[in-house]
Amino acid sequence: STLDMEVEQIKKGNYDHFMQKEIYEQPESLRTTLRGRLIPGDESKVKGVLLGGLKAHLRTIRRSRRILFIGCGTSFHAALATRPLVEELSEVPVTMEIASDFLDRRAPIYREDTAVFVSQSGETADTLQALEYAKSHGALCVGITNTVGSAISRGTDCGVHINAGCEIGVASTKAYTSQIAVMTMLALAIGEDAISTRARREAIIDGLLDLPGVVKEVLKLDEKMKELAATLMEEQSLLLFGRGYNYATALEGALKVKELALMHSEGILAGEMKHGPLALVDETLPIIVIATRDSTCSKQQSVIQQLQARKGRLIVMCAKGDAAIMCPNGASYVIEVPHIQDCLQPIINIIPLQLLAYHLTVLRGFNVDQPRNLAKSVTTE
Ligand code: G6P
Repeated sequence: STLDMEVEQIKKGNYDHFMQKEIYEQPESLRTTLRGRLIPGDESKVKGVLLGGLKAHLRTIRRSRRILFIGCGTSFHAALATRPLVEELSEVPVTMEIASDFLDRRAPIYREDTAVFVSQSGETADTLQALEYAKSHGALCVGITNTVGSAISRGTDCGVHINAGCEIGVASTKAYTSQIAVMTMLALAIGEDAISTRARREAIIDGLLDLPGVVKEVLKLDEKMKELAATLMEEQSLLLFGRGYNYATALEGALKVKELALMHSEGILAGEMKHGPLALVDETLPIIVIATRDSTCSKQQSVIQQLQARKGRLIVMCAKGDAAIMCPNGASYVIEVPHIQDCLQPIINIIPLQLLAYHLTVLRGFNVDQPRNLAKSVTTE
């Protein structure tokens, strides 16, 4: 009805779509996610994190033989982005499980395992069933959700709410960045008793304190992403290459482009390039290479060189000021993003890709907030 439409317009405020509003809300949603959970540190208190819902279980988590991250879609990608840090700070092996595949395999899981269930809605059928299965095998079950009172939040032994606020666009944006922020704090909490990583943990906490401001800065790329979208709108396909912390960024960027702009897109682990994807490279296929600063960036530099040697049509994402070093032979387009701690960089890097997917969708004339055939919350198998 017209009334419903008017109510919707009021909720959207000055934005054309909920997705656009939710992308722009990220400095604020992240601030809310972090609120009350970071201890900046002074003479009386050490710098650290405070996750009330986990406190009583941290010792058990630290002693587990294995940590499993379980989820679907964007939530799985958020977990993947934080896996390297959780492994680094906990020294516990972390395995990744897509909920449906975990159930299909009836995968082995034991009392000594900690299973972390990541879900924006807290109601996804596959994730919920994986939770029931893990519980019945005696694993400690941790929930990371955006929905207080949801089935996953009620069914887990303990957990953290991401507090990103209600997300209406079917394609997840602000929940993704808040999930990464929460799981980064989870890694800090698990690793909190290790003296050897103290400086590292403190630097990450400083990064988290800076995060909302850096997100605000990266949002300024909106016009540039619209420009880039205009050059890509007629394409059939778009590849994204990432590795390390930003393998998840490649997968999540590709998911946004395919589900919203209805364009074929694939996120590829750059280390696998030689084992197949390289055959696709020619002068026409657009390829986004994520090459921001971290311990893998010299490897990304050589990926760029190899793609250039095959005359690939490269779009390079790098840290501000790094374009000349990362792609000395130039690129068809460069996305320069603000630099932050390596493990937080996925939060920054996904934002231009969310904007790119948004503009591609508008330009191609598809439904931004309700992509064809998809639902916000998939509560049946
Ligand atoms: C659906 C949504 C995705 C979401 C996925 C997992 O496919 O369209 O945006 O990432 O479900 O949902 P969850 O609520 O468990 O995070």
